Amino acid sequence: MCGIVGYIGNKQAADIIIEGLEKLEYRGYDSAGVAVISQDTLKVTKKQGRLKVLADFLEEEPIEGTIGIGHTRWATHGAPSDENSHPHTSMSGDIAVVHNGIIENYMQLRQWLIEEGYTFTSETDTEVIAHLIDHHYKGGLMAAVQKTLRQLEGSYALAITSIKHPDILIAARKDSPLIVGIGEGENFIASDIPAILNRTRKVYLIEDKEIAILEKDTISIFDEYGVTVQKDVFEVDWDVESAEKGGYKHFMIKEILEEPKALRDTLSPRLKDGKVDLDIDIDEELIKNVRRIIIVACGTAYHAGIVGKYAIEKTLGIPVEVDIASEYRYRDPVVSSRDIFIVISQSGETADTLAALRMAKRKGAKIIAITNVVGSSVSREADSVMYTWAGPEIAVASTKAHTTQLLSVYLLMIKMGVVRGDIDDALQKQMVDALGKIPEQAQEIIENEETIKMMAHRHYSIHDAYFLGRNLDFAVAQEGSLKLKEISYIHSEAFAAGELKHGPIALIEEGTLVIVIASQSSLYEKTASNIKEVKARGAHVMAICSESADMVMTLADEHIAVPVTMDIFMPILTVIPTQLLAYYCSVERGIDVDKPRNLAKSVTVE
Ligand code: F6R
Repeated sequence: MCGIVGYIGNKQAADIIIEGLEKLEYRGYDSAGVAVISQDTLKVTKKQGRLKVLADFLEEEPIEGTIGIGHTRWATHGAPSDENSHPHTSMSGDIAVVHNGIIENYMQLRQWLIEEGYTFTSETDTEVIAHLIDHHYKGGLMAAVQKTLRQLEGSYALAITSIKHPDILIAARKDSPLIVGIGEGENFIASDIPAILNRTRKVYLIEDKEIAILEKDTISIFDEYGVTVQKDVFEVDWDVESAEKGGYKHFMIKEILEEPKALRDTLSPRLKDGKVDLDIDIDEELIKNVRRIIIVACGTAYHAGIVGKYAIEKTLGIPVEVDIASEYRYRDPVVSSRDIFIVISQSGETADTLAALRMAKRKGAKIIAITNVVGSSVSREADSVMYTWAGPEIAVASTKAHTTQLLSVYLLMIKMGVVRGDIDDALQKQMVDALGKIPEQAQEIIENEETIKMMAHRHYSIHDAYFLGRNLDFAVAQEGSLKLKEISYIHSEAFAAGELKHGPIALIEEGTLVIVIASQSSLYEKTASNIKEVKARGAHVMAICSESADMVMTLADEHIAVPVTMDIFMPILTVIPTQLLAYYCSVERGIDVDKPRNLAKSVTVE
């Protein structure tokens, strides 16, 4: 995720900014840049790649000056490149801006600014901010920033500097974190506390729609109407390592708790006037005449593919094949130009997924990639890309990337269904309304975290666990089982509940933990029968079910109920308790949750 550092004081700004950005490197980024007021000019240096590339360049060609802003960019709009890196400047080069977040209406603003005579040098959403400030500038930087912010839809944390105001920095935020650090004869802006913890422990936590003006000796904070806000100083008492995790013990739990935001960020730019409006380019004729959809991925991303198969076949009636990339590429599959080929990959670098993509492309299929990393190999080689806006995922076990993959699959399904006429306006509206509620429903589940923690506390010492589910619940059972085994090292398997009697039931004995996923309303009765079967053989049944699954809740020994949405969307919600369960079992077992043994975050070897 992007990082921001700003400095105003008497020391060399570039050194302090680089030092701060280094503290944010763990969050992932692909380019970095600084803008420093140096004598009478605003000097900007930005480089694609590691921060060290920028730091080495600045060693060779230092920028002297005591006021500046800097940024590490994690690409969203536009691939990683020098041009797309921040800071972005106005055409005159007088104003420089760094930005975290997503400006949802940037296309309209960009078009309008072009008509007003502005030229753009990058593909980013951020550049519109620099031009808008310039457009509104009539001698007061604060007034120009205020007018600009009123035009922005979406999320932002901003640091702004201008050569015409060489004694101030401006900071502003909405839905993206930002703090102001308080020094002596110097002040700081940062997207995250670790960036400035070496310099000060006193900060102001900037709230949504507030604007801060920093001089080297004073900090003034205003609300959106320009009224002064009196703030308490927040004293940071964490160490750097825990601050990096935002005060959480592990990245995994931080990332689970970020799911409502990740879902909102993935969803909201794609909904316009109650309809799905995808920022991807797919040939409508192909969608209308498609013969088959093939989804290929690995691990957790593959489980998102299984959900996609059930949902797309049920809603659109198009045959969907879903395959593990390492199997697909070695089985000489039949694929043609009438197939849509979807690859799902958080990293966009998984070797087998990439090889399967290349193979399908050679055979003429059109490739759609669902990935979390802009500029990744998968995103570059696919014909169209749909990004999950989950932000960098640092824990090895995938959580927020998975739920946003599911959401992306659903959005793609709706888009295809509308083009084909399988989804009419009424159904689209019903689906969009339901998806719109998912982020807050995810939040409700997360608020029930303590219950799941207690369940983990009761069961963490078991040797084996079995997950059961039917249909979409079977997809979640497979993901829940993978998550549990990979981070808690508890042996776990997932079975299609109907398969139980064909063998696996032999494994059930007194006290065996069976985790039943039950969210598909038409299948409650069938699943209830399976619960009875395993209970009759001594199993202890934990149900992860919909709030409407009374029958299941009554039979299970314990349950976690999740809010109700349309049946096909239930996997986004039911998977979250499985993530929390796995997490807390891992913690109880004293495992290195974020880096489980033998695993890597990005599997770039076959
Ligand atoms: C499990 C997990 C892995 C990945 C798999 C694919 O929690 O993270 O199973 O899902 O290695 O990785 P990506 O999505 O990067 O292609």
